[in-house]
Amino acid sequence: MQFFIIYISIVLCYFSCIECVKISSCAKWNRTGVTIAGTGVAGSSAEQLHDPTGIFIHKKTNILYVADYGNKRIQTFDLNKLSTTGNTVASLTSNPHKVFVDDDSNGPTIYISLPLSDHIEKWVYGATSGVPIGDACFSCLGIWVDKEKNLYTAESSRFRVRKWSPQTNNSTVVAGRTDLNGSTPDRFGLPDGISVDETIGDIYVTDYINNRVQKWAKDSETGMTVAGSDFTSFSGPSCVMVDEETKTMYIVDRHNERVQRWLAGASSGDTVVGVAGRGNSSDQLNEPRHADFDSKGNLYVSDAWNHRVQMYTLIDNEPCRTSAALSIMFKSTMIQILFSMVTLIMAKVF
Ligand SMILES: *[C@@H]1O[C@H](CO)[C@@H](O)[C@H](O)[C@H]1NC(C)=O
Ligand SMILES: *[C@@H]1O[C@H](CO)[C@@H](O)[C@H](O)[C@H]1NC(C)=O
Ligand SMILES: *[C@@H]1O[C@H](CO)[C@@H](O)[C@H](O)[C@H]1NC(C)=O
Ligand SMILES: *[C@@H]1O[C@H](CO)[C@@H](O)[C@H](O)[C@H]1NC(C)=O
Ligand SMILES: *[C@@H]1O[C@H](CO)[C@@H](O)[C@H](O)[C@H]1NC(C)=O
Repeated sequence: MQFFIIYISIVLCYFSCIECVKISSCAKWNRTGVTIAGTGVAGSSAEQLHDPTGIFIHKKTNILYVADYGNKRIQTFDLNKLSTTGNTVASLTSNPHKVFVDDDSNGPTIYISLPLSDHIEKWVYGATSGVPIGDACFSCLGIWVDKEKNLYTAESSRFRVRKWSPQTNNSTVVAGRTDLNGSTPDRFGLPDGISVDETIGDIYVTDYINNRVQKWAKDSETGMTVAGSDFTSFSGPSCVMVDEETKTMYIVDRHNERVQRWLAGASSGDTVVGVAGRGNSSDQLNEPRHADFDSKGNLYVSDAWNHRVQMYTLIDNEPCRTSAALSIMFKSTMIQILFSMVTLIMAKVF
């Protein structure tokens, strides 16, 4: 049985490693970060950032986009040149929270959430101004754009995630209950980061106030907690990234100053970076807000109150052989076998 599971996991892993680095669920990153953007001191020069919140790495071009909240601008940093000088690609009239970059025929298009002006702005490549896109989005935080250009937005003060279709110019609530907050499975305390698993349409949402990550299956009326069920695991989760193949989640745990990895079905996570608490040294963070991976699997984190973006090199990408992932799979299989045996015995007895 165990050999069979090992075989399956190796086959799955190798199948997907054709185009880019597939991150193993047992990968390790150097816990000492390197500053990629920002000087560590808040400011508005091209080298500086002021409260960076959302980040996004455009994998094709290897360009880092940073929502430079305090400076009301979107900065880009060319990761090929390791240039620490930012380039302003969007000058805004309101503070940006999160940023999502999509590909259009003329180049990368930027979507920006503006929580203080309750909408999303779309900046096409090379534009000198943005246009509001979709419906109003109250205290708008997380954004996602899928392959059909549907726009998902986390409306934090209306406790819901909506999906807006450019074809119909209509929005539908896909997670949460409009204007109803709470900690029941159908509600949010405050939806923040979102991630859409486009293979099956599941929506992952960090529920910042309830310290949990909720998964809403496509067309579902209610969510389920996939990380943080005991309330003590997180303190202000603000971003979730999901590996579409393994369903492994990476969660920015803002007030705990760390990024955690939760394997699918796990009841606890492990800390991948940010093991040294709050501070400004290279192994510390101060109010991390968002994270992303580049095409080589290196991890980037916006370190808001240190006014910088940190990069952590992928140093071990071995597949999970004797790992926690395997033991979880193995355990659940054993429980199933045990359960069938008990059922069989019961059937015999009665
Ligand atoms: C981690 O990064 C630090 C600083 O760049 C470096 O000195 C150290 O050798 C790296 N460790 C590993 C295991 O790569
Ligand atoms: C948009 O939604 C409204 C109600 O939510 C519905 O009446 C209308 O038909 C929809 N329009 C389109 C083009 O789907
Ligand atoms: C889309 O709908 C909004 C209202 O929900 C309306 O103000 C806007 O004019 C519509 N846009 C188009 C192109 O129909
Ligand atoms: C809903 O939000 C309000 C305002 O933030 C808060 O006072 C209240 O306790 C929340 N209710 C629940 C059930 O979480
Ligand atoms: C980094 O932290 C140390 C110790 O708290 C502090 O003295 C120093 O000023 C900080 N540096 C910056 C750039 O904020």
